[in-house]
Amino acid sequence: MAIRKHENPITLFHEWFEEAKTCGLREPTAVCLSTADATGMPSSRMILYKKADDRGFVFYTNLGSQKVQDLRDNPRAALCFYWMPLGKQVRIEGSVESVSDEEADAYFASRDRQSQIGAWASKQSQPLEGYFDLERRAAEYAIKFGISKVPRPSFWSGYRIIPNRMEFWLEKPFRLHERLNYTRTEQGWTARWLFP
Ligand SMILES: Cc1cc2nc3c(=O)[nH]c(=O)nc-3n(C[C@H](O)[C@H](O)[C@H](O)COP(=O)(O)O)c2cc1C
Repeated sequence: MAIRKHENPITLFHEWFEEAKTCGLREPTAVCLSTADATGMPSSRMILYKKADDRGFVFYTNLGSQKVQDLRDNPRAALCFYWMPLGKQVRIEGSVESVSDEEADAYFASRDRQSQIGAWASKQSQPLEGYFDLERRAAEYAIKFGISKVPRPSFWSGYRIIPNRMEFWLEKPFRLHERLNYTRTEQGWTARWLFP
């Protein structure tokens, strides 16, 4: 097994992600997102990756969260996937932009109703009295929306990470791993192999 080099790293990402979906992982879309605040202090947390195309990698979150404050102060981020059964890691770094309201609305509408209500109930990253506080808010919003359509909260949307660097790492015996690193230039993507 070897890394199959493509001109476009997004093509290679899709190829690996298709494998990740069938390798037995419960959540192959789980990925570590790193941001940094205005002082440069980094922080990382898991998120769920939703889609990737030539424009970048999309995830959704609460706009009142710490990570969004970081992205407002410093609109750059990194993602790191690790699919253990495959021995594969993908690293992505770049600048971020908000997704359009239409795109966020369409994705929100596709979520299950309980998750839609959960988005309304959570004041993500804010302190709460206790877990019951969240359950009470979820119950209140469930009553408020009844059987009507749950609209997307204005404080919930998505970000797109526009990659300028991507790296593919494949586990090999005796730590002789393969690393293929892509950098975006004005002419397009440049790929080079790095020592592991
Ligand atoms: C597997 C997994 C998936 C998660 N997916 C998301 C997600 O898609 N969006 C999100 O805002 N938080 C997600 N979270 C919660 C975040 O890890 C984090 O707790 C939350 O976003 C608050 O982070 P912040 O205070 O740094 O903004 C997920 C957590 C786990 C463990």
